[in-house]
Amino acid sequence: MSHVLVISGSPSATSKTEAVGDHVARRLAEYEWHVGHLRVRTLPAAPLMNADVADPAIAEAIQQVSQADGIVLATPTYKASFSGLLKTFLDLLPRHGFGQKTVLPLATGGSLAHLLVLDYALRPVAHALGARHVVQSVFLLNQHLVLHEDRPRLLPQSAQLLDDVIEQFRKSLVSAS
Ligand SMILES: Cc1cc2nc3c(=O)[nH]c(=O)nc-3n(C[C@H](O)[C@H](O)[C@H](O)COP(=O)(O)O)c2cc1C
Repeated sequence: MSHVLVISGSPSATSKTEAVGDHVARRLAEYEWHVGHLRVRTLPAAPLMNADVADPAIAEAIQQVSQADGIVLATPTYKASFSGLLKTFLDLLPRHGFGQKTVLPLATGGSLAHLLVLDYALRPVAHALGARHVVQSVFLLNQHLVLHEDRPRLLPQSAQLLDDVIEQFRKSLVSAS
């Protein structure tokens, strides 16, 4: 059984990115995989900012990453990059923190002008952390995404895009196991 961890990095309590992360987690759980969702904003702020990896909640989060075979990195686009909150957490991981793992990069954003955030920012970080395979990423436009009772509703073209990358991620995990 594969272990997947969604790591979402929005500071917003009504985060669209987080809702999409939940959606991806639900979809993957249908395959009877063990799927968790780490919302970085719920980690204790002071230990996170002070890189206190001995803090129990931070240590537990790092442990969750190390136990996962697959990682979904979900971030809002902020100032043409991925969120600082996500980066703060990723900086706490060991050098090969994504070693032997398959990674699915996912971003939400207000403008397609910043679509490349996935390729120039998020994907290189996954590789720097030693990811075995970084599958095709997905950028979801805000305008295509409506929250209904905390669940994301996507316009058909975005929903199809998301389904396709989830399937690629799933296949990649299956072939790695
Ligand atoms: C501080 C801030 C900066 C943002 N910068 C960008 C940006 O540079 N490019 C973009 O496409 N969207 C930008 N956005 C829009 C967000 O990426 C978009 O609303 C995203 O879906 C928010 O996700 P969340 O609800 O999970 O926080 C920005 C939003 C905020 C609050």
